[in-house]
Amino acid sequence: MTFENILVEKRGNIGLITLNRPKAMNALCGALMDEITLAVDQFESNAAIRVLVITGSEKVFAAGADIKEMATKTFAEAYKEDFVTKNWERVARCRKPVIAAVSGYCLGGGCELAMMCDIIVASDTAKFSQPEITIGTIPGAGGTQRLTRVVGKSKAMELCLTGRMMGAQEALSTGLVAQVFPAAELMAETFKMAEKIAEFPVPAVMMIKESVNRSYETTLSEGLRFERRLLQATFATEDQKEGMAAFIDKRKASFKDR
Ligand code: CAA
Repeated sequence: MTFENILVEKRGNIGLITLNRPKAMNALCGALMDEITLAVDQFESNAAIRVLVITGSEKVFAAGADIKEMATKTFAEAYKEDFVTKNWERVARCRKPVIAAVSGYCLGGGCELAMMCDIIVASDTAKFSQPEITIGTIPGAGGTQRLTRVVGKSKAMELCLTGRMMGAQEALSTGLVAQVFPAAELMAETFKMAEKIAEFPVPAVMMIKESVNRSYETTLSEGLRFERRLLQATFATEDQKEGMAAFIDKRKASFKDR
């Protein structure tokens, strides 16, 4: 399959997906979401790729689901084709870390796609919103759920019920975004972060991701139990032995991903 709506690139051990539908503000049409699904499948199955980055252009990350494509859809059609499900959730299921690098508009399904990633970094020009209410619908790719868990009920209600845009600094202060960089430095800083993560042993990286994500799905005591078992499991890895020995020997660890 050739990609028409995204650009897919390997940079060292980082897999980069760039949303590339400039004429439609990177609106997330079905074909684009199929392509993201395939690109994530490919990066996930490629052992040389350790971290994924999803980005858009400097002007727009993504202006949401494709309004023109869905405007006349009936309920029966949406239900039968499992709209905003079958090809929308691959990023959330990715076991490798995924960083969303957001510049410009990050709206509706675009914001929801960013929230499926593990870390959102933003340029100082980023604008986040869930504007679905303004077109007579609701955030439907996780906006009412993931945004609420991140920013809390009052802020999520305010954003989803008014559809207003939130700037990068406000997004940073709510915890939606991990770091904000000047627009010109966004990709360099994102790659620095991705390369740092890529230095660490894959099993420990994946266990951290799985454990943090578990915190959204379970009680504190069950989450702690899960975390404790994974912590104990790391003691069965060579990388834990190497990492701790290297600390004690005052040398750089040489991890083997096992
Ligand atoms: N779907 C389809 N096309 C879109 C689009 C979208 N979400 N957003 C922008 N476009 C198209 C425009 O229709 C326009 O196309 P034409 O040139 O053919 O007219 C082109 O992209 C450029 O857009 P604008 O002329 O509007 O550009 P602007 O700079 O004036 O405004 C914007 C930019 C603020 C992002 C504005 O385009 C906008 O508000 N877009 C829609 C945002 C929105 O409502 N998103 C939510 C979608 S619903 C959703 O995502 C549901 C869900 O939860 C899954």
